[in-house]
Amino acid sequence: MPHLVRLETFDAEIEVAEDETILEIALEENIAYPFGCASGNCGACKSRLIRGTVHMRGHSAFALTEDEAARGLILACRAEPRGDCTVAVLNYDDAVAHPLKRLVGEVASVERLTHDIAAVRVQLPEPMAYTAGQFASVAFPGFPARDYSFAAPFDPSGMVEFHVRKLAAGGVSAFILDELAAGEAVAVQGPLGFAFLREAETGPIFAVAGGSGLAPVHAILQSALQAGAGDRPAHLWFGARAERDVYLEAALKALPGLGLKIALSEPDGATDRPVGFVTDILAADLQALGPAALDGARAYLAGPPPMVEAAVRIFQAAGLDPARIHADAFYTEAEKQALA
Ligand SMILES: Cc1cc2nc3c(=O)[nH]c(=O)nc-3n(C[C@H](O)[C@H](O)[C@H](O)COP(=O)(O)OP(=O)(O)OC[C@H]3O[C@@H](n4cnc5c(N)ncnc54)[C@H](O)[C@@H]3O)c2cc1C
Ligand code: FES
Repeated sequence: MPHLVRLETFDAEIEVAEDETILEIALEENIAYPFGCASGNCGACKSRLIRGTVHMRGHSAFALTEDEAARGLILACRAEPRGDCTVAVLNYDDAVAHPLKRLVGEVASVERLTHDIAAVRVQLPEPMAYTAGQFASVAFPGFPARDYSFAAPFDPSGMVEFHVRKLAAGGVSAFILDELAAGEAVAVQGPLGFAFLREAETGPIFAVAGGSGLAPVHAILQSALQAGAGDRPAHLWFGARAERDVYLEAALKALPGLGLKIALSEPDGATDRPVGFVTDILAADLQALGPAALDGARAYLAGPPPMVEAAVRIFQAAGLDPARIHADAFYTEAEKQALA
């Protein structure tokens, strides 16, 4: 029997069966409930259970700690109602609302950026409005959909760009790197995600990217710094394995006022760059900068889940309010299933 779930944030009520999650039904009802991974790994759908009881499906401790659960917080993507409930989204006040669209476009170009990252440009039949930092669900004929972040600020011509890193043989990313060519049809659903640039603010930006996580972070920095934002403090820590994995360096250096640090974790020779995990270098730099540097700041993070999770902890330990940390961890479908 379905239960009545009141969504305080949206002044709406939905009926959710015991084998469904609150997020699933909210999205079916076209309610713009915030979410990222939809699998209990990212924390984007964190909500307060004001009344009632839910059963929580498996999730990572990163997305919802035991302490948060004890304080009545839940993940809407994991919460099955066990009676009528009332929930409110945590930190909803700064969400953007672009219409969700499903469009079929055509690949305009595929360009190698490194040995295992390609830029894919797709011409959509109409613009898909989004804010830098958001992502789309992208599906090529014969392949399952995968999430890819918009790699450039919104372009009203309907051209969108994604940066895809090849993970292993057989997957969608291998098809994109090895076989995809201009002219291929592609279904794009979006925009999705809540790790987007808070455009109304002018405080400091602290950005951390690993691998193709540079795609959304570069879009965020372009949007924030190219719009005549003056002397807004902005820092980027970019982690790559070796020199051959570094890309977009000239474009990043051209962004006005950006403090850029590129760290190599496995350099294959002598290098002038900092060596080590980018998160270790971030932690040392934040300590040197001191807590005042984080006043009014927002952190934007994207890339491999271990890097993103470590960076979130570092910013929290440095005193940044978790509500000001916006992260997209690039979980694969297998990782989502395993964690959930
Ligand atoms: C919100 C979000 C945004 C994302 N944005 C981007 C983006 O902008 N760019 C991007 O490149 N990706 C992005 N991803 C990841 C992307 O969605 C896919 O998961 C990725 O491209 C792998 O898909 P696949 O089909 O190639 O691999 P799958 O078929 O899902 O996996 C292929 C194989 O790779 C193995 N594998 C898993 N992780 C690794 C690893 N780290 N190294 C080596 N092998 C591994 C798996 O075990 C599996 O066997 C994003 C993910 C999320 C959740
Ligand atoms: S959307 Fe619920 S934890 Fe990611």
